[in-house]
Amino acid sequence: MKKKFLSVLLAASMMATVLAGCGASADTAAPAADAPAAEEAAPAEEAAPADDAAADTSAAAGGTVGISMPTQSLERWNRDGSYLKEQFEGKGYTVELTYSDNKIDQQVKDIEGLIADNVNLLVIAAIDGESLTQVLADAKAAGIPVISYDRLIMNTDAISYYVSFDNYTVGKLQGQYVVDALDLDNAGDKTYNIEFTAGDPADNNATFFFNGAYDTLKPYIDKGTLVVPSGQTKFDQVATAQWDTATAMERFQNILGSYYSDGTQLDVALCSNDSTALGVTQAIQSDYAGKNSVIITGQDGDEANLANIVDDKQTMTVYKAVANEAVATLDIGEALLKGETPDEGLIKSAGWEFECTYDTESYDNGTGVIPSYLLVPIVVTKENIQKELVDTGYYTMDKDGYAHPVG
Ligand code: GAL
Repeated sequence: MKKKFLSVLLAASMMATVLAGCGASADTAAPAADAPAAEEAAPAEEAAPADDAAADTSAAAGGTVGISMPTQSLERWNRDGSYLKEQFEGKGYTVELTYSDNKIDQQVKDIEGLIADNVNLLVIAAIDGESLTQVLADAKAAGIPVISYDRLIMNTDAISYYVSFDNYTVGKLQGQYVVDALDLDNAGDKTYNIEFTAGDPADNNATFFFNGAYDTLKPYIDKGTLVVPSGQTKFDQVATAQWDTATAMERFQNILGSYYSDGTQLDVALCSNDSTALGVTQAIQSDYAGKNSVIITGQDGDEANLANIVDDKQTMTVYKAVANEAVATLDIGEALLKGETPDEGLIKSAGWEFECTYDTESYDNGTGVIPSYLLVPIVVTKENIQKELVDTGYYTMDKDGYAHPVG
């Protein structure tokens, strides 16, 4: 079995839950305090069992991996960056990790810098999926393979693979949560009011999330069981530039002022992710007169949102185990560095203990379909935070009952 540092913190008592998640979660269960964890991760190589010979060959070859993340202002990308760094450094690679402050020009510059530094592999989560065509043509000319990380990079034939979660399913899980929570199939004549908040139009994932949720809820909107008082049901109307919390809050304050100030009850705020959910929650707290508890969805398991879930201010989040995404990226990256063309077989040969599908149909970036490794997201609520996030090693639980991400 392959996964690094598996034994480190994985107490036998955790085993059952970990099997539902993945070995990598155990990796990250190590007390991975910030940056130094990456250095400490190095000895994991020695711990690699003998049957991991193939990967070890590549580790011996070494090399530099350039990782370009969008921003540190959205919590999850900090975790992605540190998990990716830990994975690649654990295999003996040098890592150059950049964050581009959600500025497109900055990301182009950062990637230019990584190319100039002769990195052997690029792992990129784009700020704007449409803006990297030129710089990635340079990467291609320099013979550097590129993995499109989490967000699909559009209009470039320079990317070899896409690794992400099943983004449409993220939205479906949010929509289905609402269907179940309100028992919409048995609603009879009862009606419920819902408003949508989606993500950044520059992020290719955002429409997948929105469509997954909207397609799930549309039958109930068509039937009249769900009503959208603002009438805002198109992605462009509900999108949030840069997934920004304040932007989401302001839009939602306007919605509450315009459509709910007469006492109309809001039942659901369908938010595509946690940063937007945070803004919507703030707006509801400050500008909503109703006394009912509004169902609020999210995605990512950000710390503030998990606290809100514990405090009954947010209802659910869709959690994506980015520690596993980093493991998948490492294995795809190593295969590319060895000159291989990984396919579905990698899922088995790499020994991933998390669910993943190999998809060669869903993600066309304008130059053709990009082969994709898609991991599986899960629903997290107040009831299962302990089981899904803490027992699996991704988070620790405070005495006060709040969860804090590891890594
Ligand atoms: C998406 C990502 C989400 C969320 C969002 C905001 O691309 O898939 O998990 O983090 O960006 O950064």
